[in-house]
Order: sequence, then C-alpha cells, then structure tokens
Amino acid sequence: MQQRVIDVRSDTVTRPTPAMLEAMMSATVGDDVFGEDETVNALQRRIADLFGMQAALFCPTGTMTNQIGIRVHTQPGDEVICGELAHIYLYEGGGIASNSGASVRLIKGDNSRFTAEDVRANINRRDDSHLPWTRLVGIENTVNRGGGCCWDLEEISRIRRVCDDQGLALHLDGARLFNALIARNESPHQYGQLFDTISVCLSKSLGAPAGSLLLGSRDKIAKAHRYRKAMGGGMRQSGYLAAAGLFALEHHVKRLRDDHARAKAVEAELRSLSYVASVLPVETNIVVFTLTDSMPADEFLQKLRERHVRALSMGPQTIRFVFHLDVSDTHLDGLISALRAI
Ligand SMILES: Cc1ncc(COP(=O)(O)O)c(C=O)c1O
Repeated sequence: MQQRVIDVRSDTVTRPTPAMLEAMMSATVGDDVFGEDETVNALQRRIADLFGMQAALFCPTGTMTNQIGIRVHTQPGDEVICGELAHIYLYEGGGIASNSGASVRLIKGDNSRFTAEDVRANINRRDDSHLPWTRLVGIENTVNRGGGCCWDLEEISRIRRVCDDQGLALHLDGARLFNALIARNESPHQYGQLFDTISVCLSKSLGAPAGSLLLGSRDKIAKAHRYRKAMGGGMRQSGYLAAAGLFALEHHVKRLRDDHARAKAVEAELRSLSYVASVLPVETNIVVFTLTDSMPADEFLQKLRERHVRALSMGPQTIRFVFHLDVSDTHLDGLISALRAI
C-alpha cells in the first residue's frame, strides 16, 4: 500500500519489504557471540568476498563500525585526519575522544573531499614530542553533509600512497558506499584494495532494518571482535537481521539508480524555484539545498508538513532530502507538486 506521507528525512526510515521479512523469518540462527549464527557468518563471508578483504564483523550500527574501525588503528594520544563534515567527527557523540582517546585534525576540502597534498600537510612530525601522533586518515563516501557527493577513486589512490609512505592507516566510512559504487560505476574490489578498514551500512539506502559491517584484515577484525564486545555490541540470534542484509545486497543495490534519478529530478525542480538560493550538485540519493533569506528552514518544513512531506533541516537555511526504497515515482510527483505550491 502506498504511504500518504512522503518521508524524505533520511534513507534510514524504510521498513522491510514483505519479501525481506520473509527472508528474515526463515533465517537459520544461533548464538553469534559463540560464532554459531550461520546467517551472520554467511553475511560476513559474503561481504568480505565482495570487497576482496579477509574478514568482516557484523555490528548493530554504522557508528559502532566506525568507532571500532578507529579504535583498532589508534592509541590514546594519536590523531585522526578527516573532513570537517565527517560523520565520525560531527555525529558520533565525540566517540573518537571517548572510545579511542584520539584527537582530530579537520580538513575543509571540497565538501570534505580532500587531496593527498592536504593529508601530507596535516601529518604531525614524529620527532616533536609536543605533537599527537598522526595515525589514521578517515574518508567518508558518499559525503552525507556534502550532499551525497562521491570521491574520486584516483585521489583516494594518491592518499593511500601517502598513508603507505607515512605509516598511516586508512579507514572508510562507507555508510552509503553502494550509492557511490552505482553512481560512479565502480566495484567493491577497487575499494577493498585501498582501505585498511571499511564500514558499510545495510540500514541506510539498502533498506535493511539494522546492521553495519566492518571489513578488514583477519588481524584487525579479530581485534574488532574484542572492541565490539567491550562496546556492548555482541548480539545473539542476530541472523534474523543478517538475513535482511543478505536480502538487501541481493535485491536492493541495482535499484539505487532509481533513487539517484529521483534526486536529480528534484534537483532540477529546486533550481527553478524562487525561494531556493542554491543546490549542491546531486550525484546520488541526497539533495542538500539552501533557502533564500525570506524563507527560514522552519517555516519551509512546516509548509512541507502541511502538504504531507517530511524533511530535515541541516542549519537555519539548509534543507536535506534523501531518496530511498519507500519513495516511489508517485511520491516524487507529490513532492514536486508540494514544492511548486509553496
Ligand atoms: C555517513 C554516515 N556514517 C555513519 C552513520 C552512522 O550510522 P548509524 O546511524 O547506523 O549509527 C551515518 C548515519 O546516518 C552516516 O550518514
């Protein structure tokens, strides 16, 4: 049944489809803390193979996979380089400080996409005991606050070379990596070769109800297992959730193209509206735009609500729409009509 409300607040608001629910209900499960959940083991194997990495660990959230990823590479007193819009810095409750005891060096970049030269310029000298030790570089792809923009794979390769040269680890917050892979026609293997650890989410654009995976070498994932326990993330019969993840990988990746096309249609519409000041270029399923001074974000969101559209603000004049599995072409038409009517 088509929902009346058009909910573009986030791609996390999706509900499992009947087919996904059926896959979940028929999963074979066991106690995953004992390593005995066959479905979790199958998902971990499947995703590690997909990226050509040695191992993977299923966790409840993307925040946890990022935080564990950072923890396995750093010690208290180390420093992490990332973009100023990075989720790991802005939206993980200060977890880099509280979980790893590390400090953060922010790079502005182009919507938080920085260069190998930026990384090189932000590495602290090891021979000065005043300075935190730079240990890790964190990249986010796609960049959520950057309007879902994608990184250039060539630039990531250059950053990898700097990391190798300087003894740094490289972590990817790939909460929406599948959107980038689809938009740029790239393969998971290309990413698996470049990063020490990768976090991917099943509960964002892929439509699973929960779950993220951390990928890495056997050693790093063995360490990650221990940190997951310490953070309280060891689940038991989590195969029911892993089954949703396996289903999502099978059925919900190619369709991301549809979300991207709908986001682009809305981008074109927004560019023609007098109350919109600017729109970040749309590449994937996220549309971030700024309203003119005469239209405060709160007032705009209220006007949308009156027309059965739910969206989020990212600042006093900035709005985000996110397209996902539960936004159909009919919803798209409804959203465009609502925007025109305001
Ligand atoms: C880029 C990015 N990374 C990580 C996360 C964290 O995921 P979770 O909400 O599952 O903790 C999010 C959540 O929206 C995100 O957008």
